[in-house]
Amino acid sequence: MIERPLVAGWSCAVCGASVDIAEPFSWACPRAAGGGHHALQLVQSISPLRSSGEANPFLAFRRYLAVDAFMGAHGLTDLARAALVAESDSLVAAVAGTGFVTTPFERADALSDALGFSADGGVWVKDETHNVAGSHKARHLFTILLHLRAAEQMGLAPWLQNGTGRPPLAIASCGNAALAAATLAASVSWPIQVFVPPTASPSVTDRLRQLEAHVVTCPRVPSDPPGDPCVHRFREAVAAGAVPFSVQGTENAWCLDGGRTIGWEMARHMEEHIEGPPFDRLFVQVGGGAFAASVMAGFRMSGITPRLHAVQTEACAPLARAWSSMHERQLGKADTGSHWDECMWAWEHVGASAADGILDDETYDWLPVVSAMADGHGSPVVVDEADVLEANETGCRTTGIDASHTGTAGLAGLVALRREGPDQVQPDERVAVVFSGVRR
Ligand SMILES: Cc1ncc(COP(=O)(O)O)c(C=O)c1O
Ligand SMILES: [Zn+2]
Repeated sequence: MIERPLVAGWSCAVCGASVDIAEPFSWACPRAAGGGHHALQLVQSISPLRSSGEANPFLAFRRYLAVDAFMGAHGLTDLARAALVAESDSLVAAVAGTGFVTTPFERADALSDALGFSADGGVWVKDETHNVAGSHKARHLFTILLHLRAAEQMGLAPWLQNGTGRPPLAIASCGNAALAAATLAASVSWPIQVFVPPTASPSVTDRLRQLEAHVVTCPRVPSDPPGDPCVHRFREAVAAGAVPFSVQGTENAWCLDGGRTIGWEMARHMEEHIEGPPFDRLFVQVGGGAFAASVMAGFRMSGITPRLHAVQTEACAPLARAWSSMHERQLGKADTGSHWDECMWAWEHVGASAADGILDDETYDWLPVVSAMADGHGSPVVVDEADVLEANETGCRTTGIDASHTGTAGLAGLVALRREGPDQVQPDERVAVVFSGVRR
């Protein structure tokens, strides 16, 4: 029986093109090949957010996943869909030492005291440091992997028919995303190319090679246009047939599907285990923006829209600049897609920060992030390096979580606002942050 899926498909927030959920390999807007900016977003019917109670969020919230709708649209039974997710998870666990499980999310009492919150308010910390490959990134990539495996199982993969072999996966990253990508690829022995800069840390590239990734070092070559050479090489690989195994929604929108599991876990935990009012604010560290976009998309399916504060460092803050441009031009959130270049462009001189995972010179997935900030009366927060360092020191010491500076950078936004005084964040407010990656 063909079931009616909760996710109907995708629509492009820039050009309006739509893509049916049954379409395989619908990584980007169908009009993206013609150039310009495009940004697929999910088209989903509203349905109360419920968990099946399973520990694995991809099973617990499976019915809300686009990849589940994709499989359903091709007639795969409920049982077969669940089995594919569970089997893929156990393959990941065999390589990563853990599969996907609901990660801890608790009120951090000592941290709340240190920041001057009252007993009614406080800071809740979601701890992603023990997630697959040590960060939240694998959540984004798991739905792309499920899509590929499902396509193979459902007879939709041309490489199985024409005998050319699997196309390689490709990613441009030398941090958490690369490690997550190589881990998932290794779990199913899928070839992967990881494009890294000459400055990549040897401990990361050694681990990538251990996972049998093909590491491609990308120095700038004279013929390169402006921009990151790793991204140029990545795009060339994709143009030659590689699968964009990317954590940027603009390169592969399917990463925005699995990223939502984190927001779903937070929202369900709040409803089931936290007495009293819902969260007032979420502080989320923003690099390329897929993380904040997904956390909020997931969280908001509970019907609650807290104030979102997208946190960047002063070393690189293109999203805050876009937010100001929007307001100067009096653009509403519906107008942003058609005014992309006036609001979002590469940060000219990216500085240094200990939170080096959020120094993306462009916030690729900025449209859903500004839209979520507008809806919940949120705002961007730009922190200085002292805030980044203080948040990591206080956050890790008081919680015992061994997070990186990137991982605690959302907290730096709260530290900065609390310092401005009680008018900014009241002591009885409830605030959530995500410690998104382990210290390496
Ligand atoms: C631990 C961690 N948190 C947050 C981010 C930011 O995520 P995004 O680039 O999707 O905004 C990154 C990105 O590298 C990261 O590694
Ligand atoms: Zn488009």
